[in-house]
Amino acid sequence: MLDSRPEVIARDSWVDVNKGTVDRRIFSDLAIYQQELKRIFARGWNFICHETQIAEPGRFFQSYIGEDQVIAVRDRSNTVQVLLNSCPHRGNTVCRSDQGKTRSFFCSYHGWNFDLDGKLVGVPGYEDYYREKLKKEDLGLAKAARVQSYKGFVFASLDPQAPDLEDYLGWVGMVGLNLIAEIGDMEVIDGIQKNRIQCNWKLAVDNLYDWYHPKVSHGSAVRAGMINEQGLQYMNQMVMLGEYGHGIGGAAITEENLAKLSDTLEKGQEPDQIDKAKVWRTTEKAANAMGPLGIRCGGHPNIFPNLWVSAAGPPQLCLRIPRGPFETELWWFTFAKKDQTPEERRATVMIANHIFGPSGLLEQDDGENWSHSTRGSVGAVTGERPIDFSMGLGQDKMTHDSESGQSCIETVVNEHAQLWLYRSWEEWMKAEDWPALIKNHSLPPTGKV
Ligand code: FES
Ligand SMILES: [Fe+2]
Repeated sequence: MLDSRPEVIARDSWVDVNKGTVDRRIFSDLAIYQQELKRIFARGWNFICHETQIAEPGRFFQSYIGEDQVIAVRDRSNTVQVLLNSCPHRGNTVCRSDQGKTRSFFCSYHGWNFDLDGKLVGVPGYEDYYREKLKKEDLGLAKAARVQSYKGFVFASLDPQAPDLEDYLGWVGMVGLNLIAEIGDMEVIDGIQKNRIQCNWKLAVDNLYDWYHPKVSHGSAVRAGMINEQGLQYMNQMVMLGEYGHGIGGAAITEENLAKLSDTLEKGQEPDQIDKAKVWRTTEKAANAMGPLGIRCGGHPNIFPNLWVSAAGPPQLCLRIPRGPFETELWWFTFAKKDQTPEERRATVMIANHIFGPSGLLEQDDGENWSHSTRGSVGAVTGERPIDFSMGLGQDKMTHDSESGQSCIETVVNEHAQLWLYRSWEEWMKAEDWPALIKNHSLPPTGKV
């Protein structure tokens, strides 16, 4: 099924921002996929893990940057290292566990042994076979070029030219992460749920902005009472667009709703079930961290390229990790406040399991659609026909809050964030390096969108 057509990668443009269309061969072409690994995943900042998962020296967590396997580990000096999980001798992995605690990384092939900071510290036969001629200092595990954290979320880039993480995230990316960080002192609940779907990773990403499909795709969940349709707020949506492809799309929380909630709390009354989860938004600290528009965000952020912050239900992160053009691995991280009672934590896990992930009610529906959309990008004729993201295009406007510098589109269900994702994707794919991307990437639009 793999497909590589030089004429596809050489095209002038895959995304028509005026018509709102996307060339669907970007979901199946192997050369495009290989370019994504280099120009998007290796270049960008990728979420690796949360600091609570590697809280003490020796604790490690295995993750991916595109198809490059990495180990995040806290070394003996308490520094977070992100090491490439590939032995410099023959390329074997030096760590096979998803997570755990170790004193070193031992290669199972010939026994080279690496310290927690990646240094090669043990070589069987160093004196007898290598006759002490091996340059051990040059043969440590390779490291991510840049590693930084934002409020406990650890990110890494394989590109030394990457800007600082906070410059990369911008206010839209930070609002996204604050939807979890500002709830309280958070930690990851052990057990990352992983499953594979036969689809291109970008379709799994653009869907998180898609508030058009639930009524149809998840009709059975709506009928079963699993989704409260009112919460979807088709006619009350808010879209924020950030530099480098970040975005937030989905339901808006109104100022009136937040004011009413503050009033309820001031009177010492108990908020209703839906409003209870919004109490943290009424604090000054959260308002300062999120800004006047960010604090009202009830939708779904994506930190480009592939980190979905899902905070409308239990706070979760989902990575859409590419596994070739036709397969995506979904990794679900579920968060809880450190001071949650065991009962509250059980309820968080139970609800999280029932919504997304391999046993969730929703992603079974989504995965089917993404697989068929991916399949539909392969055919000689179907692959030639563009797909459409024109909903709302030219119909809405970006409003700007001059004091905070934040801006958003308030409108009905739309496809602005999806089109922004693909427009930014193309800019990443065309830029030779970070300086070119910094110079040529689109700034969020102003005025009519
Ligand atoms: S491949 Fe790792 S020691 Fe040989
Ligand atoms: Fe869905």
